[in-house]
Amino acid sequence: MNKNDIYQLRRNALAKQISNKTGGGIAVLATAPELARNHDSDFPYRHDSDFFYLTGFDESGATLVMNVIADGNDYVLESHLFCRPKDLEREIWDGIRLGPEAAPEALGVEFAHSNHDLDQKLVELLADQNAVYIRLAESAEADRRIRHWMKQVRGQARSGINPPTEFQDIETLIHEMRLFKDAHEIDIMRRAAVISARAHIRAMQICKPGMREYQLEAELLHEFRNSGAQSVAYNSIVAGGANACILHYRSGATELRSGELCLIDAGCELDGYASDITRTFPVNGKFTGPQRALYDITQAAQEAAIAATKPSNTFMQPHDAALKVLTQGLLDEKLLKLTEVGSLDNAIETGAYRRFYMHRTSHWLGMDVHDVGSYRETATTASAVSAEKPWRILTSGMVITIEPGLYVRPSDDIDEAFWNIGIRIEDDALINDVGCELLSRGAPVKADEIEALMRDSK
Ligand code: GLY
Ligand code: MN
Ligand code: MN
Repeated sequence: MNKNDIYQLRRNALAKQISNKTGGGIAVLATAPELARNHDSDFPYRHDSDFFYLTGFDESGATLVMNVIADGNDYVLESHLFCRPKDLEREIWDGIRLGPEAAPEALGVEFAHSNHDLDQKLVELLADQNAVYIRLAESAEADRRIRHWMKQVRGQARSGINPPTEFQDIETLIHEMRLFKDAHEIDIMRRAAVISARAHIRAMQICKPGMREYQLEAELLHEFRNSGAQSVAYNSIVAGGANACILHYRSGATELRSGELCLIDAGCELDGYASDITRTFPVNGKFTGPQRALYDITQAAQEAAIAATKPSNTFMQPHDAALKVLTQGLLDEKLLKLTEVGSLDNAIETGAYRRFYMHRTSHWLGMDVHDVGSYRETATTASAVSAEKPWRILTSGMVITIEPGLYVRPSDDIDEAFWNIGIRIEDDALINDVGCELLSRGAPVKADEIEALMRDSK
C-alpha cells in the first residue's frame, strides 16, 4: 500500500460518516500552532494528532478542509490542504517547506493552496453548505475565525447564497476512529515500545548509588534519540525514594541512594505514536524484604489485570482484577487492617485502598499518551441515554496501558519499613482476537529478572 493510501482511507472513512450523518458537509481541521517557550525561542514543534491522523503532514501552519458532496446514496470527497507557501528566505532560516505545488502528489490530497488563501477559499467552500464539522468550543481564536467566515458567507445572501445552518463536532468522529489502531499504527507502536523497553534496560544497567535522577533521564533520552525516536511521549519521570510517591514527579536532581527504589515512567514518541512504560527497581540492584513484598504484590496485580485484558471484557475489568490483588496484598502486609476495614470486599467498596493506590489501572494509548476515544459505550436507545452508560467493551485493535502501583507515605500507623516505597509497573497491551499482546515486555518485570539484569551489568 502506498503511504498516502492510509491517510486517504482514513479521510474517506471520515467522509462516509459525514455523508451518513448530515448528507455531506465541510470539515475544517487545523494542525497545532507553534508555541513560544520564552522570548524568541519556541518549544519543539509537535503537530496536532487528529490532523496528522488524516494527512500524515507534520508541518505547522496547515489546515485540512474536506468537502463531502452528497451523490445519491454515495458521496464524493474533495480534500483541500492549506499549507505554508514556498519562501526561500524563510526556508533558509527555518527549514524546507513542502508547499502547495508539491502537496497533492506528496499527500494524496485533491487540492492544495497557500495558507494565506484560507479565509477567502473557506468563504467559497462554505457557501450553500448545510453542515460544518469543526472542533466545537476549541478556542476564542478559532471561534473568531469561524464567525468571520460565517459573516462573509451571510454577506452574500442577496446573491442567493445560503450560509451553513448546522455545526457538528469533528473530534468525536475522528477519536472513535483513532481508538482502533490499523496495521500501520500497530507496526509503529510495536517499534516505539521496543525502543522504550531498551531505554529502561539501559537505565537499570547504568544505575548505581550516588547517581542523580537527571543522569538516568539522560540515559533514557540517549536511547530514544539514538534509536530514531523523535521525542519523549511525555515528560520522563525518574523518581528516587520518596519521590516515587508523587505521581506526576519529573526527573529532578535527587541523589539515588542505596537501599531505596527508583521508579522510571518513560516512553518515546516514534513517528507520532506514544509508548508508556514504568519500571521500578532497587538503586543498588537488590530489593529489601519490604520492597520485595510490595513489588511482588504489584506484579501479581499486573498479571491479574493482563489476564482480564481480552476481548468481550470491559475496560474496567483489568482494573477490578488488579484492585483485588492489590487490596488483598495490603491486608496481608497489614497496611490495611482487617479489624478496621472488615473484609476485602469492604475495603474495595469503601475505597480504603485509595490511600495506597489512587489512580486507575489503564488508559487508551496511541498518538497521545492518554489517547482519545470514549471510555463508555455509546447509548443507542432513549432508555440507555438516560442510564449510566456501560464501560467500553475491549475489542481487537484497541491499545491500553496496564499500570497498577502501590505508594506508601510515612505515617504513624504504618510500619516504618514500608515508608516512602513507591512502585508502579506499566506495560502497553494491544487487544487481539483472544487476549492481548504486550508490546513493552522487552524490559524485565519480575523482581528476580531485574536483580539478575542489574547484577550482570556490574
Ligand atoms: N506516563 C503517564 C501515564 O502513565 O499515565
Ligand atoms: Mn500510563
Ligand atoms: Mn506511564
